[in-house]
Amino acid sequence: MKEENNKVRLTTMSTKAGCAAKFGPGNLAKVMAHMNLQERKDDPNLIVGFGTCDDAGVYKIAPDYALIQTVDFFTPIVDDPYTFGAIAATNALSDVYAMGGTPLTALNICCFSTGLEPEVYAEILQGGLDKVTEAGAVVLGGHTVTDNEIKFGVSVTGYVHPDKVLTNGGARPGDVLILTKPIGTGVISTAFKNNIIGEAEMTESITSMSTLNKAASEAAQKIGVNACTDVTGFGLSGHSYEVAAASNVNLRINLSELPVMTGVLELIEKDCIPGGGYNNRNHYEKWVEFEGDVSETKKALVFDPQTSGGLLISVPKEKAEALVEELTKRKTLRSQIIGEVLPKAEGDKYITYYEGKAE
Ligand code: CO
Ligand code: CO
Ligand code: CO
Repeated sequence: MKEENNKVRLTTMSTKAGCAAKFGPGNLAKVMAHMNLQERKDDPNLIVGFGTCDDAGVYKIAPDYALIQTVDFFTPIVDDPYTFGAIAATNALSDVYAMGGTPLTALNICCFSTGLEPEVYAEILQGGLDKVTEAGAVVLGGHTVTDNEIKFGVSVTGYVHPDKVLTNGGARPGDVLILTKPIGTGVISTAFKNNIIGEAEMTESITSMSTLNKAASEAAQKIGVNACTDVTGFGLSGHSYEVAAASNVNLRINLSELPVMTGVLELIEKDCIPGGGYNNRNHYEKWVEFEGDVSETKKALVFDPQTSGGLLISVPKEKAEALVEELTKRKTLRSQIIGEVLPKAEGDKYITYYEGKAE
């Protein structure tokens, strides 16, 4: 991080931070309800479209080659412009990794206000460029508009073999669930924005948000897994629900095994919950069940919107150990088995959280 730009606090210039700025899942559903949505199912090259709430679209352009396309942009989640750019790019690239793909090219999306020095924007773009380069992809250009609230992000194109696409619909009963990054970025960012914590307490969260899901995705591709998504704005519950619903299964998640960033539970106790956390809870709660004694703190945690979160992977039980080993070998942040996949039970519930005993 560069110190000289700390005069400008990017996070004070927007009302919502990072993926917490996402248009609520309920709002989006209402918009879609007004549309005549017809996926081009007649196109034999369409592999993944908008119909299944997946991370990215996939379109076959040759028998052994499919394009993955995705876009993500948001308001500043940290004050440092370079770090903001790096996180925004990491987050956008993540959707290609969640589909089991390799990023190829990127286009910048910039909403810049006129009041700031050009150096600030140069650093945002540099942070993004460096991350795209680290991912092995190429920035081709971008588009910039004037906007009072700064936003930055990237549209990414990647590729994958059509038979190797990882969707959120492949989870099978008997699978084990693995999460590759700790959760809590929404709470931490809210605490920082409200001056409850300082920059030093952001370190773990910043490291996590700017770590590519490349290694985790490559490990999953090597071992062979049934389903994969990344945990972002809709929180652990929202993205778990998308996997469970698309796969028609129940997910059972042990809260005692869930990796959580340092200080997050204490901050939730101080009511440090982003607006997006409440939106997520309102929308997804009906599909979630808490078994036994689960604290209000943990209940809030599972709806916390994540920015650039880890991969949630559903892997056959017999391969789980090999995958954890592969993830550890590739030095992913904190990969952990957090639960299991069960056959879909009767009723509305798709996700069960419980506090399992430590082994
Ligand atoms: Co995603
Ligand atoms: Co995304
Ligand atoms: Co996916």
